[in-house]
Amino acid sequence: MKVLVVGGGGREHALAWKIGQSSRVTQVFVAPGNAGTALEAEHKIENIDIGDADVPRLLEFAKQNAIGLAVVGPEGPLAAGIVDAFSAAGVRTFGPSGHAAELEASKVFCKNLLRHADVPSAEFRTFGDAASAAEHLAAREDVPVVVKADGLAAGKGVIVCNNRSEALEAVQRIAKDREFGEAGNRLIIEERLVGQEASVLAITDGQTIVTMPAAQDHKPAHDGDKGPNTGGMGAYSPAPLVTDEIMRAVEEKVLVPTVHQMKRSRRPFRGVLYAGLMITKQGLKVLEYNVRFGDPECQPLMMRLQSDLVDVLEATTTGQLDEVETMHWDPRPAVCVVMASEGYPGSYKKGHAIRGLEQAGQLPDVKVFHAGTALRDGQATTNGGRVLGVTALGESISTAKLQAYTAVKCIRWDGAWCRKDISDKALS
Ligand code: AMP
Ligand code: GLY
Repeated sequence: MKVLVVGGGGREHALAWKIGQSSRVTQVFVAPGNAGTALEAEHKIENIDIGDADVPRLLEFAKQNAIGLAVVGPEGPLAAGIVDAFSAAGVRTFGPSGHAAELEASKVFCKNLLRHADVPSAEFRTFGDAASAAEHLAAREDVPVVVKADGLAAGKGVIVCNNRSEALEAVQRIAKDREFGEAGNRLIIEERLVGQEASVLAITDGQTIVTMPAAQDHKPAHDGDKGPNTGGMGAYSPAPLVTDEIMRAVEEKVLVPTVHQMKRSRRPFRGVLYAGLMITKQGLKVLEYNVRFGDPECQPLMMRLQSDLVDVLEATTTGQLDEVETMHWDPRPAVCVVMASEGYPGSYKKGHAIRGLEQAGQLPDVKVFHAGTALRDGQATTNGGRVLGVTALGESISTAKLQAYTAVKCIRWDGAWCRKDISDKALS
């Protein structure tokens, strides 16, 4: 079978690498891919020069090349309805429909669904303009809140505020200055929760739910969770914070009611349901849903997955997930350290040659997943803010961490940097 992976980040490199290991797969195309997927010929991987938002050309490619399964990585094309278009044309595609992807694409939709499904989440109010939001803030007690733009904003439309004046400024940025464009047509003001965060990703066909081991992301740019938010500077799995008891609660109180409520809302959910959770003193709460694999959470998860991913993805598209053998995981933890460009998450330069990739890749239990990279005359160069996801397995989280950072030390380019404390929260 030929598989098409849509996207070009670290998540898509990890997915294509895992999919290429399936004995059922003859070829994996990645659109548009990166230097990492370009260099995976031995895993039957090949890049094609079509952007992940160009649905008509992607569909034409899929039909012409008899693609047996398409797997969509990023939220943009999912929200734009790529799965609907592919499915209507008879191309089997893994991911939620455009309507179901609203769960991530509209925070207002998500919060209302959580409320109806009785899933624990922060108290919230929705506003359609800056004036009514400001009125609300002025009328209530001066407590810490979080102000969120409704729509997709590449993870940047969430502003955590310490007091009323910060909240008013956040409202101004989202609803008046339109810093996140149309994503700010509506906004949410919600209670600010305190606790530790974890990500639980599950695969569901709308009936059966298969939960993956918990992971933990590191969103702030700098060590000790300081600095501006990023797309994620590293991740590890499993996350000891999520005990078996918490995992059962996530399944019973979060995932099952959400999948049921989506069905009742006539938006049956198929694909990856990614719950961003906060474990508070008052118990488990959902911060948000994503409708896709997390990036970088996907990298440590794929490193640990021992089952054939294609069987699971395909069964999800046909509603037969209950017939697939449960997923097997390497008991060893995996740690992924993101190496980034100087300036990220602000502006940064592209085109620096990356050295030491081969040396790093030769270390045992290490896989260097590429994210923002491009191949120029056979040389891998930087092409984005998050450049690499250096991932390692180890007998314990601390040995996996050590091995990941040993690999990081082999790699260099002008201005390369990373957080030095990925996975430390698991060790404290
Ligand atoms: P989201 O994109 O909704 O996951 O938000 C991004 C980050 O903002 C989360 O990972 C949290 O660190 C923080 N956040 C979001 N909602 C809340 C909340 N209600 N209370 C505290 N922190 C939050
Ligand atoms: N790592 C967070 C995300 O994928 O949204």
